[in-house]
Amino acid sequence: MKFHMLILFHLMINGSFAFQSILSRYNLTLQTYPIVTVDGYILRLHRVITDDYFQSTPHNYSQSRKPIILQHGLFGASNNFFINSQESDYPIKNLTNTTCAKLNNIGICLLKTQRYDVWLPNSRGNFYSNAHLHLSNELSSFWKFNSDHMSAYDLPPTIEFIQNQTKHKQIAYIGYSQGASLMFQLLSSRPEYSKTINPFIAWAPPIYISHMTSMMRYLDTTIPFFQTTAGRFVPMEYLSNYIGSLVCDFSSHTNALCGRVLTSIAGPTNHLNQTRVPNYFQYFPSIASTWSVVQFGQWYRTNRFAYFDYGLIENYHKYGQYSVPEYRLENIPQDYNITIFHGSTDGFVSEQDTRKLIDQLLSYRINVTEYRIPSDTWNHLDFLFGIDAGRLVYEPTIQMLDRFLNH
Ligand SMILES: *[C@@H]1O[C@H](CO)[C@@H](O)[C@H](O)[C@H]1NC(C)=O
Ligand SMILES: *[C@@H]1O[C@H](CO)[C@@H](O)[C@H](O)[C@H]1NC(C)=O
Ligand SMILES: *[C@@H]1O[C@H](CO)[C@@H](O)[C@H](O)[C@H]1NC(C)=O
Ligand SMILES: *[C@@H]1O[C@H](CO)[C@@H](O)[C@H](O)[C@H]1NC(C)=O
Ligand SMILES: *[C@@H]1O[C@H](CO)[C@@H](O)[C@H](O)[C@H]1NC(C)=O
Ligand SMILES: *[C@@H]1O[C@H](CO)[C@@H](O)[C@H](O)[C@H]1NC(C)=O
Ligand SMILES: *[C@@H]1O[C@H](CO)[C@@H](O)[C@H](O)[C@H]1NC(C)=O
Ligand SMILES: *[C@@H]1O[C@H](CO)[C@@H](O)[C@H](O)[C@H]1NC(C)=O
Repeated sequence: MKFHMLILFHLMINGSFAFQSILSRYNLTLQTYPIVTVDGYILRLHRVITDDYFQSTPHNYSQSRKPIILQHGLFGASNNFFINSQESDYPIKNLTNTTCAKLNNIGICLLKTQRYDVWLPNSRGNFYSNAHLHLSNELSSFWKFNSDHMSAYDLPPTIEFIQNQTKHKQIAYIGYSQGASLMFQLLSSRPEYSKTINPFIAWAPPIYISHMTSMMRYLDTTIPFFQTTAGRFVPMEYLSNYIGSLVCDFSSHTNALCGRVLTSIAGPTNHLNQTRVPNYFQYFPSIASTWSVVQFGQWYRTNRFAYFDYGLIENYHKYGQYSVPEYRLENIPQDYNITIFHGSTDGFVSEQDTRKLIDQLLSYRINVTEYRIPSDTWNHLDFLFGIDAGRLVYEPTIQMLDRFLNH
């Protein structure tokens, strides 16, 4: 069985149906709520609920659980938190008798505790949130956004909606990769959100990325082109153009080329189950805007955690100055609770760059807890696909969340 990458991309479009089918194997239900942003984007906010929701009242369900947001990264989507489970290949309806380490699925592990109410945003532009009140997603003007917009315009109404629905004031937050950057951007620009988001758990946060070893850094060379052409970025098409005809043979257990492509993007690992790579490609990567990719290129080049650089004239128009302002992490209040998970061989966010972030946050007296994944290899995608992420990341994440439950 041979798949061309482009064909895989089309399989991925069907990912939303596949998401529902994973959930139904566990007797879980997907709810979808529309969120309309001030600038007109229509986002799909997902929530996954257990059977208990139907056995009591929605109000009871919310009251007995703390709401938690799981925010996906660049090229990601809500379903990313439910796909890392070999067991999801089989029907399993009874979760009582299985451990989180065995389940290897953060979404299901959280629901199984019966202490968390799981909400999953979809950032503007991904395949769930591809609509706008006035703009077609075929127009380049639809795609004129970057992570500044996702943080400032997508997160606040999402948070408020969850507060309204659940009647909880405080929400826990797990941000993976760009999902973590978005919260650092929000807390720096609107520190009042520190009262709402507690705790904030950052998995592999790309704040400083100048030491990245990932193939992603070569995107930097195409940036002048992307910068002037705001548009849709489809990673699978880009990869095919970049590498040439990339054919993955998933019937072979070595599956070497595709494995190498993944590690050249994410970093070295021995935690990837190559046999399951086709399952993951049904959901990942999704679509993003070129400007979101460009912004990472800017952070890579400048080593600054900054707003988007539009060029001198447009910067002046937007920021009242020619240079680009930085996000000021020192605005985050003292004692604010952040836990940073990071891996030893992350090709996107290196240990050196993570060290810089942690030291800086500590110097602002932020209550940072560091969790280095205890393994010789742990790359950027292992947070989503790691064969033992249940034991190495998801269990410790839930232990950390539980420390903040009764406050
Ligand atoms: C699955 O959910 C349905 C209601 O949605 C419920 O009647 C049934 O008992 C559940 N099954 C299991 C095994 O929990
Ligand atoms: C809601 O929860 C309360 C207290 O836990 C309980 O007394 C009540 O029966 C529940 N209501 C429903 C409809 O389940
Ligand atoms: C699930 O499994 C546990 C332990 O094996 C059992 O006690 C429980 O009744 C089962 N629940 C359902 C709904 O089958
Ligand atoms: C539940 O787990 C225990 C310990 O692993 C095992 O002995 C038992 O057979 C399991 N029960 C079911 C219903 O799978
Ligand atoms: C939350 O509720 C308030 C008060 O009812 C309402 O004004 C606001 O629009 C709601 N926000 C969202 C995002 O639904
Ligand atoms: C890898 O995934 C395949 C397919 O789900 C499974 O049969 C195999 O046991 C997995 N390997 C490991 C080491 O978990
Ligand atoms: C940190 O978490 C603790 C425990 O939930 C809470 O009491 C404290 O207010 C939090 N700190 C901040 C600055 O929110
Ligand atoms: C700091 O974070 C730890 C979690 O690692 C928590 O247990 C502790 O209560 C926090 N301290 C404060 C002052 O909130």
